[in-house]
Amino acid sequence: MDKTIKVSDRNFKLYLTAAQIQEKVKAVAERINQDLVDKDPIFVAVLNGSFIYAADLFRNITIPDCEITFVRLKSYAGTQTTGEVRTIAGLNESVVGRNVVIIEDIVDSGYTMARIVRRLKEDLGANEVYVSCLLSKPNAIKVKDLKLDYVAMEIPNDFIVGYGLDYNEKGRNLPDIWVVTE
Ligand code: IMP
Ligand code: MG
Repeated sequence: MDKTIKVSDRNFKLYLTAAQIQEKVKAVAERINQDLVDKDPIFVAVLNGSFIYAADLFRNITIPDCEITFVRLKSYAGTQTTGEVRTIAGLNESVVGRNVVIIEDIVDSGYTMARIVRRLKEDLGANEVYVSCLLSKPNAIKVKDLKLDYVAMEIPNDFIVGYGLDYNEKGRNLPDIWVVTE
């Protein structure tokens, strides 16, 4: 029988084990190591969701002298849109002319990531901006021209928790990834 757990008020079943996740994370780190060895990259991890993925990815990066920093997304009321608009807060390092690797937990519609990429390139003067997300949901993407350079795993359009990802802020501590059952 499928392993299930309850997080907050919903039930989840086991989707990916910690060992399966590690394999995928190592494979994506290896690609980054090869592609960006001469790019002097700065990794920018988006808190909270990416903190566990960022730690596991970064410990598998072998590029000499690479750096990591952490940002949060701050919400503000957009003038043009009814939805929530989120931008980067807490980036103290200059990224002018730098090659940046954004580390995110998951890309769903892609609106959040598209905004982060645009802000880094257009406002903050980054050179190349690469995206590394643990998960992407290809069936949910709304921003069709968003380039996802380093995706550890593609998943169906279902809600998941664990390995840093939350359901109502709960479940981030789970070592495996779980998918909602109803
Ligand atoms: P997007 O702007 O629609 O791409 O939303 C991305 C953000 O939504 C992520 O950074 C997550 O915080 C959250 N999110 C999307 N799907 C899930 C999920 O299945 N589990 C937990 N959080 C999710
Ligand atoms: Mg997030």
